[in-house]
Amino acid sequence: MLTINSITALKNSKKIVMLTAYEYITAFLLEKAGVDIILVGDSLGMVFQGRKETIPVTVDDMIYHTKAVKRGAADTFIVTDMPFMSYQASVSEAKKNAGRIIKESGANAVKIEGGLEIIPQVKAIIEIGIPVMGHIGLQPQSVKKYGGYPVLGKTDKEEKELIQSAIALEKAGVFAITVEKVKASAAAAITKSVSIPVIGIGSGAKCDGQVLVTHDMLGFFPDFTPKFVKKYDTIGKRVLADITKFSGDVRSGRFPGKKHSF
Ligand code: KIV
Repeated sequence: MLTINSITALKNSKKIVMLTAYEYITAFLLEKAGVDIILVGDSLGMVFQGRKETIPVTVDDMIYHTKAVKRGAADTFIVTDMPFMSYQASVSEAKKNAGRIIKESGANAVKIEGGLEIIPQVKAIIEIGIPVMGHIGLQPQSVKKYGGYPVLGKTDKEEKELIQSAIALEKAGVFAITVEKVKASAAAAITKSVSIPVIGIGSGAKCDGQVLVTHDMLGFFPDFTPKFVKKYDTIGKRVLADITKFSGDVRSGRFPGKKHSF
């Protein structure tokens, strides 16, 4: 299994592969395929729980899903998101909730959305021995502030602010940073400005690694594909066809056959 040191050492030598999992079987398959990091993202609020945003996701949800992921991928480095309002209100809540996630779920590290404004929380969590991955650029927990999911880093001012945040996070001790939906040239500048790995999502090819939501890249959702997702399958369509076939077999008496009976 990778460690925070071996992950950091991958910068400038090998691209890092990170994908999401929320349960056992996906985690099992990700480990078998050899991904570097499994992210138990709070995107589970939308993908797994069917919510419109990640905002309602709780620390208990994150612990529950990470435990299932850990059972499927005991030898892969697991990063678990700290959900909305588990760290923003105070340093002490941030430490308590990060501690719960690590102690109860088996995660190897936590990921926190935010830049300069959450540096005290990041420092405090690292001080108690918990590795932290940063997350800058588009922060889905702030969807109400943005009024949607915009591309960031489009102006010089935004790019400068993102670089400042990345440098501050590195100084605070994070071992890597996720950069979401940032203009490719700005993401490249962020990647150059720090000596820890930058893992991009919708942020171009110059990052040190890439992360996607597994359900998106497998094509579970027929009607929704963000521009930055490359679909490797249309699994949703195939599942639908198989379930329709099964229903037809049951209703017509074709299933179960002799070979499925005792
Ligand atoms: O919650 C999540 O899945 C994430 C990724 C989109 C980076 O944070």
